[in-house]
Amino acid sequence: MKKYDLLIKNGMVHTAVDSFESEIGVSEGKITAMGQNLGHAERVIDAKGMLVLPGGIDAHCHIEQESSTRIMTADDFYSGSVSAAFGGNTTFLPFAAQHRGQRLRDVVDNARERARNKAVIDYGLHLIISDPTQNVLEVELPSLIKEGYTSFKVYMTYEMLKINDGEMLDILALARRHGALTMVHAENNEVINWISERLLQRGYNAPKFHAVSHSPVAESEASRRAIDLARLVDARMLIVHVSEAEAAHSILQARNNELSIYGETCPQYLFLTAKDLDQEGMEGAKYCCSPPPRDKASQEAIWKGLKNGTFQVFSSDHAPYRFDESGKFHAGRDASFNKIANGVPGLETRMPLLFSEGVGKGRITINEFVALTSTNAAKIYGLYPRKGSLVIGSDADIAIWDPKWVRTIKKEMLHDNMDYTPYEGMEVKGWPRVVINRGRMVVEEETLKVDRGSGEFLPRTPAEAGRELPISSPLSPSRNFGAKLL
Ligand code: URP
Ligand code: ZN
Ligand code: ZN
Repeated sequence: MKKYDLLIKNGMVHTAVDSFESEIGVSEGKITAMGQNLGHAERVIDAKGMLVLPGGIDAHCHIEQESSTRIMTADDFYSGSVSAAFGGNTTFLPFAAQHRGQRLRDVVDNARERARNKAVIDYGLHLIISDPTQNVLEVELPSLIKEGYTSFKVYMTYEMLKINDGEMLDILALARRHGALTMVHAENNEVINWISERLLQRGYNAPKFHAVSHSPVAESEASRRAIDLARLVDARMLIVHVSEAEAAHSILQARNNELSIYGETCPQYLFLTAKDLDQEGMEGAKYCCSPPPRDKASQEAIWKGLKNGTFQVFSSDHAPYRFDESGKFHAGRDASFNKIANGVPGLETRMPLLFSEGVGKGRITINEFVALTSTNAAKIYGLYPRKGSLVIGSDADIAIWDPKWVRTIKKEMLHDNMDYTPYEGMEVKGWPRVVINRGRMVVEEETLKVDRGSGEFLPRTPAEAGRELPISSPLSPSRNFGAKLL
């Protein structure tokens, strides 16, 4: 009798903390053995010359979700998950987004239904909260957190989504009480509006002015304020999609002060700049996202933050709007910068880009790569150790990378439902050859091997005191006065 369903041999295993030679035995979707000479299996993969890594976790992506202005993303849970899988991911965490007036329960039921028969890899759902009514705060959220929706994003900008500071405090305090995590889109809405009005008055409508209106000051001010609000009530917070140095600095400072503040950044802040928005006609609309790509110095600051502990999570913020009237130009082909749909795609290119430019060029180690693209997200979002590592007992979520595979990114080779990629023409060295989720071969020989809807929903665990702390420092319970008011 064969001992394992699957055996991966001759590969070098890399986790967030170490690298070692080991075979991996998989039975019934779990890793059941690691070591040498493990024996026989139904299926053996020879990973000689390959890197054996935990499957990626994309912890921030917008899939089959309506934007604040009710534009549907181009990817549904099928195309989004297929694209994620081809980029080395075995789990992704899209959003169930509440628009004002909606019951959270309906929002969640709707997102679950959208995902159910489509996702090909495992998935959890964050919530987006735009309407924190008394019922949401006292009834819906506490029960949804218990059911595994343990993280929620709030916005400090976008007219139809933004919450005020008092509402943010209510949400943070609730999150603290229930062990949930608040993710914050930190940009000062008033600053953006103030600059936008003045630009538009002068006839500056082109896409490049999106980057001018979303000033780094709007981001750094809002980030500082959000951190202070979290500090007041001693709550955990993750600042999403950080694009520039001052916000990054505030996060690092907060972490050095032992606050449970986490930081996330994305490929667009390493590989794009505001110059990409400054192109002939409306071409720049392809790169309009919020916060916008900045400049070379900001890119350097973000690289530094990946290395020095500012950022724990590297996500795509995949927000796919096609370059047509269904997406970017929902308000017309010649819409002014503030009416262009915000967001860039990036699920499939997130890890290869970071691998090639980060690990390949010596900016980060392979272990840091694993931490940033998988393990830390599992820890922060309540999926660890089931997801995010290669240990006995964890799900067999494995990506076998070929570090020598050179590919030039082209829209046609990607599996999302987009009509462009912001990274067109970039040469990338290193790409996953085989992607395995719960022992199922998902991608092999550049082909999808699983059925639509075979991904599983992942209810997540709220944080217990100390549980989330391998990557941060303990809370001191009476650090401030606000915490006593909870
Ligand atoms: O521009 C972006 N990031 N669009 C997606 C929505 C969001 O803010 O995350
Ligand atoms: Zn955002
Ligand atoms: Zn986002």
